[in-house]
Amino acid sequence: MRHTIGIIDSGVGGLTVVRSLVARGAPFDVVYVGDNANMPYGNRPAGEIVTLSLRMLKLLSEYHVEAVAIACNTISATVDQLRTRCSVPLVDIITPAAAALARRGELDVGLFATEFTVKSGLHAKRVRELNPAVTVHGVASPRLAALIDRAIDDEAAIRDEIAAMLERLTAMHPVKTVLLGCTHYPIVMNIFTSLAPGIEFIDPADLQADAVLRLFSSWGGGKCDAESASAPSLDLVTSGNPESYRPIMARLEIPEARSIRRLEA
Ligand code: DGL
Repeated sequence: MRHTIGIIDSGVGGLTVVRSLVARGAPFDVVYVGDNANMPYGNRPAGEIVTLSLRMLKLLSEYHVEAVAIACNTISATVDQLRTRCSVPLVDIITPAAAALARRGELDVGLFATEFTVKSGLHAKRVRELNPAVTVHGVASPRLAALIDRAIDDEAAIRDEIAAMLERLTAMHPVKTVLLGCTHYPIVMNIFTSLAPGIEFIDPADLQADAVLRLFSSWGGGKCDAESASAPSLDLVTSGNPESYRPIMARLEIPEARSIRRLEA
């Protein structure tokens, strides 16, 4: 029997994690829920983020998913509150990314993320637990995720916002590495690297995908029998416009979804 895992994000950002799972030939199917109608979550208070996220988790329980990857840094910053109210394992995206930052051997690293994520300080906390010598310099944007979700064609606006974030980071501290701590941001990785070719931008999607695969194999899953050897199928559920997924999926070279369902906003 095929196993199924859920992925949640406020919008299209979690597709970066779907891309990583597809590239790794993940031996399970994926149900993806994006709450595009209510994004950006990063400008909301914690209580609202938790309520909206629990709605997505409840929906995923109808699909009998065995675990959920929180492919959203903003939601991951509330994971402790979600874990007490959810019966399946939750894999957050902050823990594996922070471990990678702590291991880099750099004393100063940058973090680009939403306002909620930067204010939560959870990346810095997790990094310091592993390596207290590292300082995380966080720069928040209240706009960038929504621009990518709703106006991916407005490259000038996206470019201006990223340039402003880079300026603020440079004023704080020079760094060689910046973690893209919002899953929407790696969708426009080309713009980050063209504006700051001297900086290495980390996309945490592969790190989270590896964490999901580790969890899966710890259950004895991941054995490639004839059925599980096929590529993961993808069922999409969104509270926004399903059509907005097509250009992003094409950009990320993700195969067509098996089904797309509209969720009430
Ligand atoms: N993709 C989400 C993240 O990783 C944020 C987008 C939002 O603000 O809704 O934080």
